[in-house]
Amino acid sequence: MMLYEGAAETFRMKRRTCLAIVLAAGEGTRMRSALPKVLHAVAGRSLLAHVLDAIAKAKVDATAVVIGPRQDAVAAEVRRVAPKAGCFVQQARRGTAHAVLAAKPALKRRADDVLIVYGDTPLIRAATLKRLRAPLAKGAAVAVLAFRPSDPAGYGRLIVNKGKLVAIREEADASAGEKTIRLCNGGVMALAGAQALAILQRIGDRNRKGEFYLTDAVAAANGMKLKAAAIEAEEDEVRGINTKGQLAEAEAFAQRRLRKAALEGGVTFVAPETVFLSADTKFGKDVVVEPYVVFGDKVTVEDNAVIHSFSHLAGAHVGKGASVGPFARLRPGTRLGAGARVGNFVEVKQAVIEAGAKANHLSYIGDATVGADANIGAGTITCNYDGAEKHRTAIGKGAFIGSNSSLVAPVEIGAGAYVGSGSVITKDVPAGALALARGRQVIKEGGAARLRSLKSLGKKNPQSPD
Ligand code: UD1
Ligand code: CA
Repeated sequence: MMLYEGAAETFRMKRRTCLAIVLAAGEGTRMRSALPKVLHAVAGRSLLAHVLDAIAKAKVDATAVVIGPRQDAVAAEVRRVAPKAGCFVQQARRGTAHAVLAAKPALKRRADDVLIVYGDTPLIRAATLKRLRAPLAKGAAVAVLAFRPSDPAGYGRLIVNKGKLVAIREEADASAGEKTIRLCNGGVMALAGAQALAILQRIGDRNRKGEFYLTDAVAAANGMKLKAAAIEAEEDEVRGINTKGQLAEAEAFAQRRLRKAALEGGVTFVAPETVFLSADTKFGKDVVVEPYVVFGDKVTVEDNAVIHSFSHLAGAHVGKGASVGPFARLRPGTRLGAGARVGNFVEVKQAVIEAGAKANHLSYIGDATVGADANIGAGTITCNYDGAEKHRTAIGKGAFIGSNSSLVAPVEIGAGAYVGSGSVITKDVPAGALALARGRQVIKEGGAARLRSLKSLGKKNPQSPD
């Protein structure tokens, strides 16, 4: 009995290895942008990062990315997101099959399965990548991810003859009849590693564009008496991005997907369609987000916090039960402690606002720490920049900063200190001290009338009616 179980275990462990190749060498001229196409963002993350993320989640053994010459920014993004991936340069842009061959050294290592994913297809999910490998395990040499787009214009059409996938025809080469085919190529393909090089090397460039099309792998496999199969995916998952219009459509879909996941995780969105998220936005339990809030990248919101309308957050951590907005801006490096409150027209950057501290109205808190339970009055500004360097402001626990004060950094306000309204604080204030740094008020009895009469006489400087 034991022996039998052991044998089954060995059998199951014979896992197929997988190499993923991402094609990212295109300039994407139809984007009309100086930025390489795959570096455009959806949900706060580059198209390429989305694809690399899906590949990582699909648990492949190795990843190769094909980039264009002089695309240092693309290589840098690969290093940032997938440091273990290898980059290969396609010197001339001669088509998708030509691009795959740029990764020949990786192909030669003979993984069992080779997954080829286009870098401009950011919505692809790991589960679908795994699903596409299944036909290979059953003996197919090529597996194509197909879909039925609402508008097939621009996509390659799958030519199926008597139930057999025989070719993919690119739009430019398709006959009028072939253009009516709705089943299209989604831009993800799996090749059996053992045959991949032979298939790719059979592909020629005799087509309208004079390019080596990866899509011809299907006809090539047929010519070699190898099997080609297709599996279908939802349109939303395989949207390819060639234009800014398609980028916007992908963004809209990515947002719907993120909102749905957040709602399922228990976040309350009063009007979900008005809230914009990033792929890495994280929410705790019982968080409420009011209408019209934008979450840039790297935001975490802990349990019971409320984000009021028209707030913009990026690179910020919102602690338990904290309250943000309406009309607040939290910039990178912001950390709000439990129950902290940041109200309307308050901007916070590189600052920690500890538990229970409040900045409720019209403030700029930059490069600062605000101690627990401190109160920052309306209109308070940390003057962090002297034109050359940034300096820090430290406000102690329970301190009270009167309205309309300027705290000229570097400066420290001690715990429990009290700064009078309208002060310009340039020197440290010791703990528990009262600091007043403003012009003294002068009263002139009857002065109002004297001022008005001087004005009516056309006196040049009626401001000092002594
Ligand atoms: C491609 C497919 C088409 C499919 C569609 C799905 C081919 C020939 N056509 O068309 O069947 O329906 O995707 O979205 O494959 N790239 C390179 N080097 C090259 C050419 C392209 O790296 O020499 C990269 C691009 O950066 C891009 C990807 O390959 O990420 C696909 O190229 P693209 O020009 O966008 O192909 P489509 O015309 O959209
Ligand atoms: Ca494309």
